[in-house]
Amino acid sequence: MRSNRQIFLAGILALVALGLFSCRQNTEERQMNRFVDSLMSKMTLEEKLGQLNLPVTGNIVTGQAQSSDIAQQIRDGRVGGLFNLKGAAAIREVQRIAVEESRLGIPLLFGMDVIHGYETVFPIPLAIACTWDTEAARTTARISAVEASADGICWTFSPMADVSCDARWGRMSEGFGEDPCLSSAMATAMVEGYQTDNLADSTSIMSCIKHFALYGAVEGGLEYNNAEMSRYRMYNDYLPPYRAAVEAGSGSVMASFNTVEGVPATCNRWLLTDLLRDSWGFRGMVVSDYTALQELREHGVATDKREAAALSLQAGLDMDMVSEGFFLLKDDKSQIPYINQACRRILEAKYRLGLFADPYRYCDTMRPAGSIFTEGHRAEARRIARESLVLLKNENSLLPLGKNSTIALIGPLADTRANMPGTWAVAATPWRYKTLREGMQDAVQDKGKVLYAKGCNLTYDAELEARATMFGREMRDSRSDADMLTEALRIARQADVIVAAMGESSEFSGECACRTSLDMPDSQHDLLEALKKTGKPIVLLNFSGRPVVLNWETENLPAILQVWFAGSEAGDAIADVLFGDYPPSGKLAAAFPRSVGQLPMTYRHYHTGRPLPDGQDTFSKFLSSYIDSPTSPLYPFGYGLSYTTFEYSPIQHTTDSRTATFSVVVTNTGSSTGDETVQLYIRDMVSMPARPVQELRQWQRVHLEAGESKTVEFNVDYATLGFYNGEGEWQQPEGEFKIMIGGNSKDVQSTMIVVD
Ligand code: BGC
Repeated sequence: MRSNRQIFLAGILALVALGLFSCRQNTEERQMNRFVDSLMSKMTLEEKLGQLNLPVTGNIVTGQAQSSDIAQQIRDGRVGGLFNLKGAAAIREVQRIAVEESRLGIPLLFGMDVIHGYETVFPIPLAIACTWDTEAARTTARISAVEASADGICWTFSPMADVSCDARWGRMSEGFGEDPCLSSAMATAMVEGYQTDNLADSTSIMSCIKHFALYGAVEGGLEYNNAEMSRYRMYNDYLPPYRAAVEAGSGSVMASFNTVEGVPATCNRWLLTDLLRDSWGFRGMVVSDYTALQELREHGVATDKREAAALSLQAGLDMDMVSEGFFLLKDDKSQIPYINQACRRILEAKYRLGLFADPYRYCDTMRPAGSIFTEGHRAEARRIARESLVLLKNENSLLPLGKNSTIALIGPLADTRANMPGTWAVAATPWRYKTLREGMQDAVQDKGKVLYAKGCNLTYDAELEARATMFGREMRDSRSDADMLTEALRIARQADVIVAAMGESSEFSGECACRTSLDMPDSQHDLLEALKKTGKPIVLLNFSGRPVVLNWETENLPAILQVWFAGSEAGDAIADVLFGDYPPSGKLAAAFPRSVGQLPMTYRHYHTGRPLPDGQDTFSKFLSSYIDSPTSPLYPFGYGLSYTTFEYSPIQHTTDSRTATFSVVVTNTGSSTGDETVQLYIRDMVSMPARPVQELRQWQRVHLEAGESKTVEFNVDYATLGFYNGEGEWQQPEGEFKIMIGGNSKDVQSTMIVVD
């Protein structure tokens, strides 16, 4: 026990340390303010407006940049930053123009959509969330930052913190799934990974939390559509991940395309100023999404671009991506305070990134070779890709496969390189990535055989296929459907087991890839049915960027591994899991529905007055149920199997006045090692307003050898059991709470506690 005196001294020391820290921070702030004041005093209004301008460049090269209009605009001080320009040398040259040829030499920000990796590509964010491993998420962001910063980039438009419960929306791939608690943890980890605790370090890049706000709730799952809900739901269900990322220090925020309460986010003052800055204390810069400013006309809230610019600026938007709208305000004196404010925020971001101290800190052309797509980065990408795969079904332990078998690898995703990284992999270099076929071949070497047939095109509909394989990722085969099928059946008959690599191509999900059917595309479904008739066991490797509908597959196939788009190392990582070198451990960050008709859906739904009885899932007249379908998803949130099995003991708990501790003993009851993610959910039994029927609060991952048991303990501070009211105020918890612990949201043990 420490004496009172020791505690007192420790307290004094902590206060002194805190004092010194905030003193240093204050000094740094003061230095920054002085610098920015002095710079702004020299700037013309036009130059200030220039800082608010973020045109897109594409991958322009030095020569073009110098002779292009953009180069002249940079010289004229009319550009604050550029995005999606790749390469340290090209960026260095453009930065040189800004620093050496513009009047005030203000360095540019160079942004890019570094969403799930740079040249080393990690799984899509939805798959990263399925690891439930925040350290893994942090690592993906750290490595992305190391690579991107080596190549001239200082700003990424990531992470996307949009909670979504609607798999029709193609951008579910870019977020962390349906749960605000898991999404908050992932978004926080990624901000920390990108920025570290020193933004001015030359391997740190500024993160941009997007799309603020509610973009994942677009009606009908339709891209760019409205998102409307009560503030109570916003505060509790959709806003927490953005807020967590702000609290983690994200240097920037991107406004979303959608409206919130009838007002497009781009010019929504309540969102961009009242909530983000005044309530959450955000101090960074806000950028619009691509041409969102000029789209305010189409939204029906502005008559022209000038009005759109004024509305956005006054709402709290600082930087305009692509629309070049703010220049239209140069003669309007009433805008000057807003222009000054936005310009200051952008200059502060540049200052914090250390760009004024050294504008070329990200442009060391010697760095890329030793920093990008390194063996070390690729090993991490392979490890994390393995962790992200989710085993949905494994009847009679068909998986793992023996390496000495003859395998028929069949399907349109089996031998494609370009589809491995997944959507929004701007900097990817797919020609260097293995296909699944190559990964499997390398794994079996000469022990077994991997026979291959494509079997079918992505879909019979060539136009749909073209839309789902944009960006040069065409994969359509010119052979007839019948010829491809004949070949596939011939190959299948020679094998011990069929591995079907099927599902979506990478651009079947992502931005503006919304679907009204989530079934396996027609040609692939027919191929699966034909393959089943061979009587050979089939393992489905389901590629998709979103939850999809797998009813037929679940009823008819013995094994299903959800492989998402697992990145540059996916070929090896999938083989690692398929052959049992690494047991699957992913857990779904979003449920797989039984049909599109259930969407949007979440385990975290609110009560009705007429719920189905516990454990009942099918229709009951005048109870909340579907007449033609169970209400539950096919695979629930948090679900995922291993090659072994786990058993949970009943929950033990102890409580004191402020916290409770819950423990379960988890036993590996199978014959191989495995990792289990143990999840803790709560239910506030009675409150006003009512809380959801179940809410994730904590989780822990445990590694268990065959036969091993471990006690998993959760310490729960009562304060974390509360919720936000409709005014955004945190409500302290009270009364009865059900605590549920299990390996997914459905299969849980439970106990009750009372908080007073
Ligand atoms: C997307 C953003 C992205 C931006 C820049 C937009 O279409 O919505 O997520 O950051 O483009 O590429």
